[in-house]
Amino acid sequence: MIQRSWRKTGALLLSTLLLTGGVRAAEDEALAKARSALEAVRRLKDVDLQAKPALKAAIDRLAVQLQGQPELVELTRDFHLTNQFPAVFRFVIDHPTDPATGDGLRLLLAEQPALITAGLGDTNQAPSLLTGLGNLAQRDTVPLLLPWLTDSPGRSLAARRTALRGLLKTPEGATALVESAAAGSLPADLRPLAATELQAVRWPKIKADAAKVLPPPPRNDKALPPIGELVRRSGDVANGARIFRRPEVACSTCHQINGEGIDFGPKLSEIGAKLGKDALYDAILEPSSGISFGYEAWMFTLKNGDDAFGLLASETEDELLVKTQGGTLTKYRKADVAKREKQPQSIMPEGLTATLTATELVDLVEYLASLKKATP
Ligand code: HEC
Repeated sequence: MIQRSWRKTGALLLSTLLLTGGVRAAEDEALAKARSALEAVRRLKDVDLQAKPALKAAIDRLAVQLQGQPELVELTRDFHLTNQFPAVFRFVIDHPTDPATGDGLRLLLAEQPALITAGLGDTNQAPSLLTGLGNLAQRDTVPLLLPWLTDSPGRSLAARRTALRGLLKTPEGATALVESAAAGSLPADLRPLAATELQAVRWPKIKADAAKVLPPPPRNDKALPPIGELVRRSGDVANGARIFRRPEVACSTCHQINGEGIDFGPKLSEIGAKLGKDALYDAILEPSSGISFGYEAWMFTLKNGDDAFGLLASETEDELLVKTQGGTLTKYRKADVAKREKQPQSIMPEGLTATLTATELVDLVEYLASLKKATP
């Protein structure tokens, strides 16, 4: 008796599993179909939908199928599907660093800015929006990000730091930050971050103004011994590993080692096998003296006057994918780009090790030199 009921339950369980598996497969299939329908629809971009109600209805159905997918952003924009704006907003909130999020935010900023302002007032949605808006690196985001420097209930320090980093991506935002420091209105808990980051901006005038109102952290001004002498010293690997992760030295905000840290510059898990100590010192003290292939810095000037600065992650016939500091990928339409220039300087700033003593620098290099084989 007991045996029989067990068998029954087992059969029931099995059929439920098969059923849910079936549902998932059907969902995948529906999505694949929607994506190929999108391929066909792309060619109709300039058709007047008002005059073609059947086509309009088909596109509306397609949009519903694509909700939650990056392709929804493109469809909504190209066919001006105003009823999909809330779904685009949802996508942006759920995927703040997706390459389609930039397009989604640009669309909403232009067509439905009220959605964005309302979202910034919502504690749960604001962090995603601040990340996405910061990554746009657009002048018109400055008035949205700037109020977030102020501490008030419901605003986490993490969200306010995100807003600050977003401001640093445009000259207008960085200037506003310097001005708020000069006026004494920059809260004390953000001053150290602002001081360090403003010393790394690529606009010399802003950097100089910032140094006056926000003195950078103390530098170790004792001159370093020549590299030829440094390479002969040996250091402490464990201490070097800690220095690599120190916030003000910043290495791990741009480099991954065995999966830890942000994936922006080259991964360093096996750097000790690639570069000798002398080359490691060169790479750290003079980043621009030899820029790794594929990691050159690019400046893209957009037709609307904004610019994008970062690594060129990939390029197709009509789109560019730019990777900015922090590791975010942003898509740009080539049609929106007025000019592109490869920069002679490395994105890796000089002077990162200015706060280190010679001994600490030797420890850091000893650590990097010890990285010969990636640990899985
Ligand atoms: C703002 C981002 C950034 C920061 C911060 C940064 N780097 Fe880099 N780093 C890069 C980029 C981009 C490259 C590739 C371009 C180049 O070679 O200059 C690079 C290259 C390197 C290389 C050469 C890699 C190779 O494969 O040849 C080494 C070594 C290195 N960085 C170490 C460090 C160390 C140590 C620190 C901390 C003191 C640091 N980096 C901080 C972005 C950064």
